Amino acid sequence: MELTDTFGRTINYLRLSVTDRCNMRCVYCMPADGIPLLTHNDILSYEELLLVAKTAVASGIEKIRVTGGEPLVRKGIVPFLTRLAAIPGLRQLVLTTNGLYLAEMAESLRQAGVQRLNISLDSLQPETFAGITRGADLHRVMAGIAAAEQAGFPLKINVVVMRGVNDGEILDFAAMTLDRPLTVRFIEYMPAIRADNWEDLIVPGETILDRIGNRFRFSPMERDASAGPARTFRIDGAAGTIGVITPVSGHFCDECNRIRVTASGRARSCLFSDIGYDLKPFLAAGDESGLAVALHDIVARKPGRHSLESAEQQHTPFAMSAIGG
Ligand code: GTP
Ligand code: 5AD
Ligand code: SF4
Repeated sequence: MELTDTFGRTINYLRLSVTDRCNMRCVYCMPADGIPLLTHNDILSYEELLLVAKTAVASGIEKIRVTGGEPLVRKGIVPFLTRLAAIPGLRQLVLTTNGLYLAEMAESLRQAGVQRLNISLDSLQPETFAGITRGADLHRVMAGIAAAEQAGFPLKINVVVMRGVNDGEILDFAAMTLDRPLTVRFIEYMPAIRADNWEDLIVPGETILDRIGNRFRFSPMERDASAGPARTFRIDGAAGTIGVITPVSGHFCDECNRIRVTASGRARSCLFSDIGYDLKPFLAAGDESGLAVALHDIVARKPGRHSLESAEQQHTPFAMSAIGG
């Protein structure tokens, strides 16, 4: 089975959000006064999430990324991941986390069958980090990253670059790859919550690469399937790689291979589109074929590209934590 959209793109990647809750409150992700949280009843049970996953895999999904909010704050996540990993036909189970709980959980995630981790880390300076995350402790995340390395995970570090906030640290982040086999990906700030000054915050991917190029020699890596939306490079002699993700200045929509399902059971065709489909009625009825039709429908209605560069607002502002990035 294959899921193909009207633009000929094969959709084989599901981003599955298991909770909208988070133990950080990053400034780019949530408005200052927070967001209304889902109640226990709104949120899909693990059984329902497994049914979504199984149906998606039977329909052509090969890779599932578990997201949040912060996925590791949900109780029972490790046994759930173990069951998810066992779905026949699922080729890759990966997870995006803020790293706060990794020191305790990395080993059990590995044993559950999670193959790779992407970890958000926006500053190497404790104060800047606390500012961006509204209070989180950098040392815990660094300990989490070390535990994940120890557990043998291939790692990608996600850095959302914001002008005047953390763009002075681009070289420090790039230098992390010199002697560690990890990937550091610099991500253009995306206007999810539509902060007033969003355009001022963006440092274009080309500028990021220019700044790295002033200090290090690097060359492009061959594109491989695990690069995702990033363009990747290696600094000469480095153990790891660097990447840029440019959703705003050069979007990668032509190669988009993903759909999303939120913790409340809404399938979304694109991060920046309001087109969605409520899967809950099918889940409540245990209607697998209805669910499969809904997933096909969301793929069929996937827009060709987002239109963030348009001055007009094209999507309802959202907290990334409610969708999973
Ligand atoms: P890999 O599987 O390692 O390629 O991960 P990924 O890049 O797909 O996932 P991750 O959760 O690490 O997300 C990295 C960044 O890319 C985040 O800022 C996401 O919000 C952003 N991103 C992921 N998918 C999309 C997308 O479809 N559109 C846009 N605009 N941004 C996306
Ligand atoms: N712009 C860019 N990246 C974002 N993320 C969350 N919000 C934004 C935003 N507004 C990133 C997080 C995490 C990933 C899932 O999405 O840093 O690494
Ligand atoms: Fe939490 Fe991730 Fe949003 Fe930060 S970006 S508040 S870590 S969900």
